Amino acid sequence: MMHIKFISLLSLASLAVGQTVPDILTLLNGTSSLSQLAKAITNAPEVAIALGGAENITILAPNDEAFKAFSQMEQIVDGEMFAPLLTYHVLNGIYESTAFSKTPKFLPSILGDYQPFRNLSGAPQVVKAVLTASNNATVFGGLGVSASVVTANVKFTGGVVHIIDSLLPPPMNISTTAQIVQLTSLVGALTKADLVDIVDRLAGVTVFAPTNAAFQAVGNLVSDLTPQQLGDVLAYHVVPQVAYSTSLKDGMELTALDGKKLTITIKGDAVFVNGARVTGKDVLVNAGVVHVIDSVLNPNNTNDKPEVSASTQSPAFPSATRSPDEPFTSGIDASSTTTGASPSATGGVSKMGVSTFLVLAGAGVFAFGMMA
Ligand SMILES: *[C@@H]1O[C@H](CO)[C@@H](O)[C@H](O)[C@H]1NC(C)=O
Ligand SMILES: *[C@@H]1O[C@H](CO)[C@@H](O)[C@H](O)[C@H]1NC(C)=O
Ligand SMILES: *[C@@H]1O[C@H](CO)[C@@H](O)[C@H](O)[C@H]1NC(C)=O
Ligand SMILES: *[C@@H]1O[C@H](CO)[C@@H](O)[C@H](O)[C@H]1NC(C)=O
Ligand SMILES: *[C@@H]1O[C@H](CO)[C@@H](O)[C@H](O)[C@H]1NC(C)=O
Ligand SMILES: *[C@@H]1O[C@H](CO)[C@@H](O)[C@H](O)[C@H]1NC(C)=O
Repeated sequence: MMHIKFISLLSLASLAVGQTVPDILTLLNGTSSLSQLAKAITNAPEVAIALGGAENITILAPNDEAFKAFSQMEQIVDGEMFAPLLTYHVLNGIYESTAFSKTPKFLPSILGDYQPFRNLSGAPQVVKAVLTASNNATVFGGLGVSASVVTANVKFTGGVVHIIDSLLPPPMNISTTAQIVQLTSLVGALTKADLVDIVDRLAGVTVFAPTNAAFQAVGNLVSDLTPQQLGDVLAYHVVPQVAYSTSLKDGMELTALDGKKLTITIKGDAVFVNGARVTGKDVLVNAGVVHVIDSVLNPNNTNDKPEVSASTQSPAFPSATRSPDEPFTSGIDASSTTTGASPSATGGVSKMGVSTFLVLAGAGVFAFGMMA
């Protein structure tokens, strides 16, 4: 557990003679690439006091370049959004760069009960930490946004700082995340089935989220489903437990919300659920995790098998034909989705640009504005 103390005698006592490990505020103040973070924290006294006394933590410190991406940064730093945003960058426990491995780890942040970022099951929100193929330490936050560690293992009295090159948005709810990462057919389908609010109140779940192209491939069928039938199909895409990519094993069976089985197949780097291929792993949401898939799952075809060597999977619905348009997208605001967030086959979703952060900021400020 993290300990908050105003005077950290233990860590002072553990200093070897002659070594000068600074406290966090001195460290930030004295590191030129962290001037924006230092300024922001100075302007938020309660954050400064909490961090100043914290022990056993890892701080993912966004550098000045990361802050530059936010043209509305001053508004954010001055707003209620800042404390939860920053808190998500503080990990509970000390994780030096040697803790990063090719197998992702999901490390708990100290982000607490802040709407809209709180983990509905009451557990801390996590950050995904992984070493890329080229041995770059990388961290992922909500919306599939990643940051690279540019300077690792800077020691301070309460733990260690890794300097990163982007701000990490905290995980947000399922429908907001789906909309921002361009899964607008899914959002439209949830809307038609009147399930948006229900899905956003789920806790501790894994969602297998079909792409718009996946819905389009079965467009003739899904467009004709009643809201009830559509709800039945969508329920088969949600598993009431958090299964990150690292806990998916070949041959594993998961039980969806409707009580029906889903079968995981793994061949090399490729992960399949029934006959659908996972094209974007581990998009963190406040209720758990979303994996993007390339086909819509059919609750009436639970034995659908993957074609492991094919680049795209044939639909799980036997009489499906492709529709000319992406189903369910009319009326779903796509203005916030032109951010270049494209699910990638190699895990995660590619890095997003400035505009996504602004969307996040807008959504967050809006949501905080609604807090009582
Ligand atoms: C940071 O540096 C400024 C300017 O040098 C100084 O006024 C301020 O007290 C310092 N803050 C901390 C927490 O060291
Ligand atoms: C530091 O935090 C980690 C993770 O929460 C915990 O396992 C460990 O016991 C803590 N160590 C101390 C000294 O508090
Ligand atoms: C939310 O809490 C659950 C239950 O403890 C945990 O398994 C999961 O990792 C948490 N999800 C996120 C995104 O932090
Ligand atoms: C590794 O990270 C550094 C920044 O620390 C970046 O400049 C470089 O492009 C990254 N390399 C790869 C292959 O991603
Ligand atoms: C989901 O997130 C959005 C954006 O933050 C918010 O407006 C909405 O109220 C949230 N839904 C629920 C059920 O909390
Ligand atoms: C699945 O089969 C049941 C029973 O035949 C039927 O009522 C339902 O509409 C089917 N669902 C889909 C999505 O085809």
